[in-house]
Amino acid sequence: MSKVTVVGAGNVGATCANVLVSNGMADEVVLLDIKEGVSEGKAMDMMQAAAVLGQQSRLVGVTNDYARTNNSDVVVITSGIPRKPGMTREELIGVNAGIVKSVTENVLAHSPNAVIVCVSNPMDTMTYLIHKETKLPRNRIIGMGGALDSARFKYFLSVALGANINEIEGIVIGGHGDTTMIPLKRYAAYRGIPVSTLLPAEQLDKVAADTMVGGATLTKLLGTSAWYAPGAAAASVVAAVIGDQKRLVSCSALLDGEYGQKDLCIGVPCILGRNGIEKIVEFDLDESEKALFEASAAAVRKTNAALA
Ligand code: NAI
Ligand code: 2OP
Repeated sequence: MSKVTVVGAGNVGATCANVLVSNGMADEVVLLDIKEGVSEGKAMDMMQAAAVLGQQSRLVGVTNDYARTNNSDVVVITSGIPRKPGMTREELIGVNAGIVKSVTENVLAHSPNAVIVCVSNPMDTMTYLIHKETKLPRNRIIGMGGALDSARFKYFLSVALGANINEIEGIVIGGHGDTTMIPLKRYAAYRGIPVSTLLPAEQLDKVAADTMVGGATLTKLLGTSAWYAPGAAAASVVAAVIGDQKRLVSCSALLDGEYGQKDLCIGVPCILGRNGIEKIVEFDLDESEKALFEASAAAVRKTNAALA
């Protein structure tokens, strides 16, 4: 039996819960929000969809009732404010730090052994904050950003190549920010063929640039930040943990010397399994990729400094 709590029943949290339930990725899901009635209403609506679709997972919505989240295996934190057009993820720090801190305390009081997946922005800094506040072993705290950014990279590659999105490999590392993420162009492939041999360099550069501002582009179109891919990406991280999938996913992890960095949460390739981040995989980066990673790390550190 697997139990997952999703905190925040807004756009991303509700989508994550819906993906978990509609794909049978978890046996039991609790959707919790501070707003009276919202999570109950959304959970009821989703369970009525389950009756139509024949799904087996159970979903309940609760208003701030942490007792119902007891003994969750995984807790996803999406509570907080999203960015509006023109805002960076970093500008959310003041409000979201307070929310993430109090939510984490409540969650761990009821599920002391849970793996925590942090989604709230600025995500790398919020993930770092959870580490600082809880002092949990680093495998148990996963920042979700790279899974989404890598999906966006694959999307833009599939459009440029006119290829099936599921036949493309692409990974984005570094910070989850418009200027800090690093789409690894050299590692992108179409059925094992490096995309650098299939697309002109300028087109590949444009794919990388579109990926980096992928969130901002959607925020401008939608008037708030995106939710379908973010919710699905968060659910895929949960599924990798509860299903002990040993999948390689780009996640924000607390580094302890890997990639030349310490005491910092930033996106790196991770093997996800029942224990959370079971391994950090060190890709062989060339000099320019290393320089980009160092600059990204410096930018994330600067945002972290605003926590103090
Ligand atoms: P939203 O505004 O639709 O939902 C946020 C929900 O959090 C609201 O329902 C609100 O009532 C709830 N909330 C606020 N304080 C709470 C508390 N103390 N306890 C429980 N619930 C509380 O926002 P959306 O679009 O769902 O985004 C959520 C967060 O996720 C934002 O910070 C956003 O920037 C971030 N995000 C991160 C992504 C990533 O890849 N890491 C991708 C997309 C969004
Ligand atoms: C996104 O990438 C804003 O983090 C949010 O859509």
